[in-house]
Amino acid sequence: MCGIVGCVSDEPVAGTLVDGLRRVEYRGYDSAGVATVSGGRIHVRKGVGRISDIEAKKKLTELKGTTGIAHTRWATHGGVSERNAHPQTSCGDSVAVVHNGIIENYVSLKRGLVARGHEFRSETDTEVIAHLIEEEYLRSKEPLRATLAATKKLSGQFAIGVVFSDRPDVIVGARRDAPLIVGVGDGKTFLASDVLAFIEHTDRSVFLDNQEAVEITKDSVKMVTANGREVVRRPTQVAWELADISKSDYAHYTLKEINEQARTVAGAAVQEPGRVAAFAKALVGASSIFITGSGTSYHAGLLMKSRLNQEAGIRCDAIVSGELREHDGLLGDKSVVVALSQSGETADVLEAVRGAKRRGAKVLSVVNAAGSTLARESELALLLNCGPEVGVAATKSFTAQVVVANMVVDAVLGKRRADGVAQLSKAVAEVLKTDPLVKKLVQKYRDRSDFYFVARGYQSPVALEGALKLKELSYLHAEGMPASELKHGTLALIEKGTPVVMINPTGPNHADSLSSAEELRARGADLIGVSDEEDGVYRHLIRVPKVEDRFMPVVEVIPLQLLAYHFAVARNRDPDYPRNLAKSVTVK
Ligand code: F6R
Repeated sequence: MCGIVGCVSDEPVAGTLVDGLRRVEYRGYDSAGVATVSGGRIHVRKGVGRISDIEAKKKLTELKGTTGIAHTRWATHGGVSERNAHPQTSCGDSVAVVHNGIIENYVSLKRGLVARGHEFRSETDTEVIAHLIEEEYLRSKEPLRATLAATKKLSGQFAIGVVFSDRPDVIVGARRDAPLIVGVGDGKTFLASDVLAFIEHTDRSVFLDNQEAVEITKDSVKMVTANGREVVRRPTQVAWELADISKSDYAHYTLKEINEQARTVAGAAVQEPGRVAAFAKALVGASSIFITGSGTSYHAGLLMKSRLNQEAGIRCDAIVSGELREHDGLLGDKSVVVALSQSGETADVLEAVRGAKRRGAKVLSVVNAAGSTLARESELALLLNCGPEVGVAATKSFTAQVVVANMVVDAVLGKRRADGVAQLSKAVAEVLKTDPLVKKLVQKYRDRSDFYFVARGYQSPVALEGALKLKELSYLHAEGMPASELKHGTLALIEKGTPVVMINPTGPNHADSLSSAEELRARGADLIGVSDEEDGVYRHLIRVPKVEDRFMPVVEVIPLQLLAYHFAVARNRDPDYPRNLAKSVTVK
């Protein structure tokens, strides 16, 4: 939530900053701005809307200066307006700040600052940081020291970038519970929420640990703990490349990422056997296991839980991360928490695993972003290897999670089954050919406002995922549930023509789902089947290839991703940037 980019260089930086903002726009997209330092002043331009529109109106790229910070916002405190957009400046205009996070004690801090004569220009919590740093800077004239002293007064979460009007050579950054990364380039140094912001300039990154701060110049990086103790950390090389973050010939990132899945499921299966075995061993030895994640990652967790319960006979629960603390009483030093997360920065997930660690539990994770906070705070992390996911909706990360989770379960079961993945990859290429049929269905149902997704057993999380995708991309009402639950209430909502998507592959639950299909048909539902079998009960069938049972969710979810995508396009929604959402949910 909210994207930060900063750069110190010996060339003008505004263009680089705006390019970087476009790369992290997925983190928030209600307003944006840039501040540069030149001629002893801070120059700020900002506006409301998407970056390209703000650039067209405000010409952010024309700002002068070789040092600057920029921000794309997902509003928390203060409505969406130009004055609430970041950068926020102090009243003496000597300090500008960009911020990702929430300052919980900003009301009392503001009261104190106002009493000391500071004038506020926005409704944001961020503005207090600018004033506090200004006060400290007037005293010490040392950017890093002033920032450390000011951040000590803050409660809550933050990743900040700070510039000073009389220091055109320096940016200071600090973080607590929100990501911040330094990019070390040739004659330029970056500070950003995500490596994507600077990957076209450098792949050498230094990840700040929690509670650390940093001062960067164009050719130096000084990192310190919250107490000012210097930390030496070498840059690591990030495997992602610029090609990974281009849209290629696709209209949207979301469509590109859906179409990448034949390759990404295969990439996800490339794991070091020893690490998978260690992951499995930890599960086998645990006294209690909780699998946790949010949104789509939670749905992948439900699939993992299902196989651990049913096939391995291992008792475990899948709990959404925001609720894990309700199970604290069951967590101890022999417990294992498995956290799934694409970004590795989701605040609910981080809070859940930190709480579990405090109770002595071991934390293992399955994560896409290699240097993310979750990866670094886990005892063992398996990577999804699916490349950056830019579209706000999780697509390829979900199918990669299903592959990795299955490898872990197979290792628990003592099975090594590599060839299933090659078959899966081919089946994914095959199922992507359902696209024209899916588009026709969208044309047929584009005026309906309520959709239901049902399935049984191992397929039930796919129903939840199909409904989530449709809601977030098209803003249509959708519900996912086990088909068995229909008759306990939801059937009352079914009327003539109500679209119901039923995921019903051949297998143990097939016949029971067919009974539910008949019940739905009898009440007028328009059934859209997702199955490897034509059963004659569906009005429309999206036929999917048969793969090993453990991988069926992958081939079933892809037509549902396409369905959500095409509904969004048909309804003139931007599938890459759904309203009110952001990709990395770094606030609670
Ligand atoms: C849905 C979606 C979200 C994320 C959730 C967790 O398409 O993208 O529900 O799955 O915010 O994000 P990560 O996996 O980054 O922890």
